[in-house]
Amino acid sequence: MSDRPKVAVIVGSLRAQSVNRRLAEAIAKTVAGKLDLQIVDYADVPLYNQDHEADPPAAVIAFKDALKAADAVLFVTPEYNRSMPGVLKNAIDWASRPPGQGVWSGKPAAIAGATPGAVGTAAAQVDLRNVLTAINVAVMGMPQIYFTHKDEHYTADGGFSDPKFAAFIEGWGDKFAAWIAKMNG
Ligand SMILES: Cc1cc2nc3c(=O)[nH]c(=O)nc-3n(C[C@H](O)[C@H](O)[C@H](O)COP(=O)(O)O)c2cc1C
Repeated sequence: MSDRPKVAVIVGSLRAQSVNRRLAEAIAKTVAGKLDLQIVDYADVPLYNQDHEADPPAAVIAFKDALKAADAVLFVTPEYNRSMPGVLKNAIDWASRPPGQGVWSGKPAAIAGATPGAVGTAAAQVDLRNVLTAINVAVMGMPQIYFTHKDEHYTADGGFSDPKFAAFIEGWGDKFAAWIAKMNG
């Protein structure tokens, strides 16, 4: 399975019990036969400050290196006040700088999100997609993953309890793998 595309997963929540981390882990498990999804730890990336851009903190360098080494990126984002969390936007901004040294342009990507609320992070995903378009990330259009979090949506071993949803995620994985191959030529 070593030729599986490497996908850096950016979870837009830093908390230990994040439902988005849980979704990311279940997606990774479900598509493990076709994609190598690894969650990137960016908890130590500080608030963006242009004064430090020319000599960035080690956590920023490590974050950018992890993205450069990946064939693609999967964003798994919460919705905060109908947009993406600040920690996610902050990390995206750091990795877009300095001019000419950003990591985003042309990178294949997909978006998912989980919330206990009813709208499945749809508003956050629209905002995130708009930001990613501005830095030329090649975001897959469809299928899209909107997940209403409930504990019973997961099995004890961290998979999806609904076989139909698990099949949907497997199909999503096939399409994302095809998208990555197409974008990376
Ligand atoms: C500041 C803040 C704003 C929130 N705004 C929304 C929102 O607009 N829509 C929504 O569905 N949930 C909202 N929530 C609830 C989150 O969906 C919920 O806290 C979720 O568990 C966060 O994701 P996480 O578990 O991955 O950290 C908000 C939570 C916080 C802390």
